[in-house]
Amino acid sequence: MSEKPVGVADIGVVGMAVMGSNLARNLAHHGNVTAVYNRTDAKTDELIRDHGSEGEFVPSHDIDDFVASLKKPRVAIIMVQAGRGTDAVIEQLADRFEPGDIIVDGGNANFLDTIRREKDLRERNLNFAGTGISGGEEGALNGPSIMPGGSDEAWDRLKPILESIAAEAEGEPCVTHIGHDGAGHFVKMVHNGIEYADMQLIAEAYDLLRRVGGHDTAALAEVFDEWNQGDLESYLIEITAEVLRQKDAETGKPLVDVITDQAGSKGTGVWTVQNAVGLGIPVSGIGEAVFARAVSSKPKQREAVQALEKGRPEPVAKPDGFEDDVRAALYASKVVAYAQGFDIIIAGAEQYDWQIDKGAVAKIWRAGCIIRARFLNRIVEAYERNPELPTLLADEYFAKVVADGEAAWRRVVSTAALSGVPVPGFASALSYYDSLSSDRLPAALIQAQRDFFGAHTYGRIDKPGVFHTLWSGDRSEIQTEGSGH
Ligand code: ATR
Repeated sequence: MSEKPVGVADIGVVGMAVMGSNLARNLAHHGNVTAVYNRTDAKTDELIRDHGSEGEFVPSHDIDDFVASLKKPRVAIIMVQAGRGTDAVIEQLADRFEPGDIIVDGGNANFLDTIRREKDLRERNLNFAGTGISGGEEGALNGPSIMPGGSDEAWDRLKPILESIAAEAEGEPCVTHIGHDGAGHFVKMVHNGIEYADMQLIAEAYDLLRRVGGHDTAALAEVFDEWNQGDLESYLIEITAEVLRQKDAETGKPLVDVITDQAGSKGTGVWTVQNAVGLGIPVSGIGEAVFARAVSSKPKQREAVQALEKGRPEPVAKPDGFEDDVRAALYASKVVAYAQGFDIIIAGAEQYDWQIDKGAVAKIWRAGCIIRARFLNRIVEAYERNPELPTLLADEYFAKVVADGEAAWRRVVSTAALSGVPVPGFASALSYYDSLSSDRLPAALIQAQRDFFGAHTYGRIDKPGVFHTLWSGDRSEIQTEGSGH
């Protein structure tokens, strides 16, 4: 690099591993002059060698040259390993950037780190936009769903660039300014949590159709293909059919049958559950999905219990209309999982003071990302009908889905229990629905127990105030608050 270009690039990307190089190519494909830099030069050189002709790239081997190559106000997207890698690159850029310049973190950062980084950089008059990018390698290259946080000022500058590279759903780019500081990474985290729940529910449907329905893998692929023609149409259902069709070259068996049944995870599902617990939001669908992966990955415990000499229940005879029942149970459980996912977005927005448009979030998830689905249009419509909806389950469309599927859902969960097929996702979704729809919950007993051992007090259904029974005394009731007005 003999001549060093100055002030020519619309945007820069730091980190030329898979996601970063694909995003840089996507940017260049859409007419953005794209500066590229990686700590190790070989990756930058490889990108230019293999893809340099796809658009206008400005490669640098030196961070100073990279920064100099950017037009002002400068915009650089960081696509490096989350955590220390991100902090290191932020520092390098912040030392060289000027007031008003924008650093975008496109990695899977924890939103609490994003809040911290945004605050630090704001104090240095720099913009920091933590941005969730979903869609994996393919999405990064051909159009991801993009969830930017950060300031309004940063969004004004980023909007046309991000719109140029985002996926499109019904003619609209799948990017919207989610909210300030960590809002983008928070919503991306919840997206991933919902993805866990969705995958778990699909896996349970597959297991039921296999073990109770008696379908072989080829027939299962057809069931999922058929489901993909209806309300369940989604990327995850579509790839499930494809996965089920894949044969293992070595054994000739369906590939899924030779894959170890221990699911891994990278952490965003766990973060969703940790934050939900803190916020007091029951995301049981996501929680069960995280736990189901954890159970699967405990071979010693599984072996120990399998070694016990006890008979496993025989699967019950396949009930009539079982496939339709499982489809209805899957759809109803999915409604619950998404309702819970939006609940945590609403709670996060309240806690961290973000203005999040729920309908806009559902819209940008319609393409580019892993949970893309026809179903998201129904969520958009639900929030259009009532932006203050207390739960998606109360929306007229979703209430009808659940009511229409309810009997099937109960049949499927009881069939699974009788047959010894674990369905933590289906069953907990049904319990959640039954909890919300019960006019009286056993929480009254829990309140009485708490009052008994800890004098935690309780409210009464027939009058206002706070009460305590003198459990270790004469067991009379006293009013501790709200009396004597
Ligand atoms: P992937 O997109 O493949 O998942 P990743 O593991 O998230 O990638 O991140 C790898 C990228 O982070 C690489 O570009 C790496 O740079 P090198 O090619 O030089 O290894 C970059 N990276 C990791 N730690 C870094 C650091 N401390 N400073 C700068 N770049 C770093």
